[in-house]
Amino acid sequence: MLKKLLVIVLIGGIIWACGGSDNSQNKLAKSDKVAEASAVDGKAIFQKNCVVCHGINGDMGVNGAYNLQNSQLAVEERINVITNGRNTMAAYKEILSADEITAVAQYTTTLGK
Ligand code: HEC
Repeated sequence: MLKKLLVIVLIGGIIWACGGSDNSQNKLAKSDKVAEASAVDGKAIFQKNCVVCHGINGDMGVNGAYNLQNSQLAVEERINVITNGRNTMAAYKEILSADEITAVAQYTTTLGK
């Protein structure tokens, strides 16, 4: 009986230790890159919606897509381009929420750095 209990406590401890360290690493990585809007993952949104034209590093340039590594736009202006589109770049206001657009706009500022 006592042995069983010990095993359970041990396994619980291992799970807790793994979960705990994973969590703190995640938080660190996110707060490094994205100061706000940490609830949504800008990188994941970028990889799902934007890489077809901009590429994984933002510099692929399919269909004349702007090289995001060279973008001089402020985050607010990027949010505007992503929300409303510009020329061949589609508008994302029907596809992404405002929070998601903010997160992905912030993520684009980290490309190539
Ligand atoms: C269909 C291809 C395509 C997709 C998909 C696409 N873009 Fe673009 N993007 C473009 C093109 C083309 C331009 C240049 C628009 C122009 O010439 O006015 C552009 C421009 C931009 C700019 C402006 C850069 C600058 O400095 O002027 C940003 C920011 C941007 N895209 C972000 C994104 C994000 C974030 C996503 C995903 C949510 C995305 N794009 C998805 C094609 C695309």
